[in-house]
Amino acid sequence: MSLLYEIKKIEEKDIELVAKVSALIFNNDFDNEYKHFLYEAKENPCAIILVAKAKQIIYGYIDFWITFDSATICNIATFQEYRNKGVATSLIKEMFKYLIKENVMFITLEVRKSNIPAFNLYKKFGFNVVSVKPNYYKDGEDALYMIGDVNYVKNNTCY
Ligand SMILES: CC(C)(COP(=O)(O)OP(=O)(O)OC[C@H]1O[C@@H](n2cnc3c(N)ncnc32)[C@H](O)[C@@H]1OP(=O)(O)O)[C@@H](O)C(=O)NCCC(=O)NCCS
Repeated sequence: MSLLYEIKKIEEKDIELVAKVSALIFNNDFDNEYKHFLYEAKENPCAIILVAKAKQIIYGYIDFWITFDSATICNIATFQEYRNKGVATSLIKEMFKYLIKENVMFITLEVRKSNIPAFNLYKKFGFNVVSVKPNYYKDGEDALYMIGDVNYVKNNTCY
């Protein structure tokens, strides 16, 4: 069954739920996650957090930064029970609308080597691995450093 939702900028009332689920998914401390999202939403001038939501339900979020002509995906997650229904795809498409409007050229990210769902998601939007960052994560796992070309997305049907 397809989900009905809108993609919107995060509101302060959404932060608690987003932080709670994010803490669970990434095995992080709730208070730290809460402070992080509050800072990103209210103070960080480079950050944009989008949520996929319908009334009281939040399906997922993306947190990205725009710095001049480049951008970075800091995080993206779809809450467990709503995965494989196109939520992350919709979030990334909406993010690209912001990037195109702001004349961003390239977007970077790090992803765990073992994270096949996320890797496939990024490949779908033309991201390529440019290097490996050894021991990038606290548990020692390497990160793949990927770069996406905003023009590629603009000129292809994935947008
Ligand atoms: C990665 C993640 C955000 C994908 O969210 P999602 O809403 O399920 O993704 P979508 O339904 O939009 O799927 C988009 C693409 O991702 C890939 N994908 C998603 N789930 C997958 C899986 N279980 N196995 C392999 N590829 C998968 C596919 O390429 C899919 O495209 P397709 O449907 O055309 O085949 C989700 O699995 C998640 O929240 N994971 C935990 C958090 C995380 O790892 N975030 C990334 C940090 S770098």
